[in-house]
Amino acid sequence: MIQTLEWTDSGVRFIDQTKLPTEETYVTCTTCTQVANAIRKMVVRGAPAIGVAAAMGIALAVKTSKAETVGELKRDFDESCEAVRQTRPTAVNLFWAIRRMQDKFETLRIRPLGQIKQALIDEAKRMHAEDIAANQAMGRFGATLMPASGGVLTHCNAGALATCGYGTALGVIRAAVEQGKKIHVYADETRPFLQGSRLTAWELMKDGIPTTVISDNMAGAMMLQGKIAAIVVGADCIAANGDVANKIGTYTVAVLAKEHGIPFYVAAPCSTVDFNTPDGSKIPIEQRNREEVTHMAGKAIAPEGVQVENPAFDVTPAKYVTAIVTERGIARAPYEASLAKMAEAVQNVAIPR
Ligand code: MRU
Repeated sequence: MIQTLEWTDSGVRFIDQTKLPTEETYVTCTTCTQVANAIRKMVVRGAPAIGVAAAMGIALAVKTSKAETVGELKRDFDESCEAVRQTRPTAVNLFWAIRRMQDKFETLRIRPLGQIKQALIDEAKRMHAEDIAANQAMGRFGATLMPASGGVLTHCNAGALATCGYGTALGVIRAAVEQGKKIHVYADETRPFLQGSRLTAWELMKDGIPTTVISDNMAGAMMLQGKIAAIVVGADCIAANGDVANKIGTYTVAVLAKEHGIPFYVAAPCSTVDFNTPDGSKIPIEQRNREEVTHMAGKAIAPEGVQVENPAFDVTPAKYVTAIVTERGIARAPYEASLAKMAEAVQNVAIPR
């Protein structure tokens, strides 16, 4: 399995996603500030991977802290939480992971320093393992929705590289292929950062899953030609009503899917559902720098000084979503009720301490 990120004795090791697919290189971060920068620069990206990276960054800060009292350690801990909090605003898994580390710290306050440090490191490692297990569970549920054979379109990269392994949307595809389904993936290239052509194509080809890259504006034509039997994407944040924030361009795909009568599935862990956000209009959308649009591989492809918009995500209204696959099962409309029921199930599951 691709090692997207891992805790090592010398720091948090990431496959450098800014270099793929031409170079497979790894970077090791030894401070929380370095981890925060790796998230900001998209060395590591994808909502679940960002969450676990943040938890590991916090664990790193705690491990290397020179604090001599719990109060001092808490100050270093809070600082590290703030550093990762400021990186990317849309991926709700980031805030979920910070909160989980904070809750863990609260349960440890009366323990000796060494024990607190170790327990926080263990918590971050546990989140890593749980993420892979959640993706595999999602895969088992989601595979039942995939066609026995045919084209499946995906947008951006919601694969092993966007998670701790196996993937959400690509996990569903992987599980379907493991069950013997004959799936051919159509990967939208995903302008402007090209996660589809650079990352999705790279990891699927590594697994020998037939993949065709298309530019984003070809998706409608492929649907009209009958090449697409289903669509599956990931999510950065799902509002309580089932509205889905995901990579810019997802909304266009969902509307096209509706027009062509093609099922549009979203695969995401329960940690991506934000019950405090009632609908998609309240999801903060990250704006990224203009060079991602005006330049390609360092070369200008638009006139200097032209006005640019670069929202990294869009929101697909729940009415376009055929089903949401989580590690707890398949949710269908009305999502307020089906997602809330899944959350209850999650709260009933004791997180091992
Ligand atoms: O900007 P990115 O590359 O972090 O955006 C990633 C996506 O939009 C993914 O589809 C989403 O995070 C789900 S990843 C399992």
